[in-house]
Amino acid sequence: MFLVNFKQFVEQKRTIIFSNFSVLFLCTADFFLIMAVVRKLGNIKLLKCRPSFISLQVCHFSNGAGTRWNIKKSMYTTIGLAVGGASALLYALEQSVKAYDWPLHPPAYNWSHSGVLDAYDHASIRRGFYVYKNVCSACHSLDFIPFRRLIDVAFTEDEMREIAAEFQVCIQDGPNEDGEMFMRPGKVSDYIPPPYPNEEAAAAANNGAVPPDLSLIVLGREGNEDYIFSMLNGYTDADDIPAGVEISEGAHYNPYFTGSVIAMAPPLYNNVIEYDDGTPATRSQLTKDVVTFLSWCSQPEMEKRKLWLIKFLILIDTSGHP
Ligand code: HEC
Repeated sequence: MFLVNFKQFVEQKRTIIFSNFSVLFLCTADFFLIMAVVRKLGNIKLLKCRPSFISLQVCHFSNGAGTRWNIKKSMYTTIGLAVGGASALLYALEQSVKAYDWPLHPPAYNWSHSGVLDAYDHASIRRGFYVYKNVCSACHSLDFIPFRRLIDVAFTEDEMREIAAEFQVCIQDGPNEDGEMFMRPGKVSDYIPPPYPNEEAAAAANNGAVPPDLSLIVLGREGNEDYIFSMLNGYTDADDIPAGVEISEGAHYNPYFTGSVIAMAPPLYNNVIEYDDGTPATRSQLTKDVVTFLSWCSQPEMEKRKLWLIKFLILIDTSGHP
């Protein structure tokens, strides 16, 4: 009973911070475990009590030096095991939550950026931005993304300046010399403006359901990219809705969505927009691109993080050798 409640608690409180913490936990656990094992094997000279001039003296004059190193060794091992155990528990809970609470489990797709050393497909980010701009931005905000962040990621500065200017009707500025607020064309330094001024207006326009902000949606939903892709492609035709399921006016059946009834109409279909690079705009292509774009929005620093990981591994690897 306790475990079930705890699982529900984990599911409810699942946030981006939580998933980032589990990654951090795993990395720390790995680090300590590697340190403990490598120290045991005596391969890392950097961390070893070397018989250098100074350390020889220290070792000679302080009686407890050997004992201290032993205590440190067992401390590393204990911390490594404790953090490793906690991470394993977190991972097990995460997996078990995945298995039981979805209406329909999304398949695991092979995203081109999901490998440890893989970067984003930047052409796809560019196409995905167009999908967001021309389709999703009618209802969903992207509150944490300024236009300038896309420069050198998917657009040149000039292209971005033009695109930002197209959002002119939505941005309020001022006051002018008469003390009034006014509309002006968007600038690259602006954040992408929201479609509705407040949540009440958003709910009123969407049968009472508020379209969530999409900046962090890929990290904020269990299943991440796989879920968003499956959900956007998972609408069921009216004839195939299982018997007994009540669909109210303006709602739609989607087996991937929690509760299976979603207030969003299917937003994508073949050729809803045309791509400027000639890629055929099929529904699955549009979905893949918008999900890649939203994944980048959720973690624009991902490529830097992977680069740092490689540098860190090289450093660890080379520091053990003379
Ligand atoms: C006409 C308005 C509208 C458009 C256009 C639209 N959405 Fe939505 N979307 C909604 C509403 C309303 C909800 C909330 C649904 C609910 O809670 O039942 C929603 C929910 C979502 C969710 C959250 C689902 C969940 O698990 O909570 C995602 C992700 C999403 N939309 C993505 C998109 C993407 C990507 C596009 C563009 C391709 C898009 N939407 C276009 C109205 C829209």
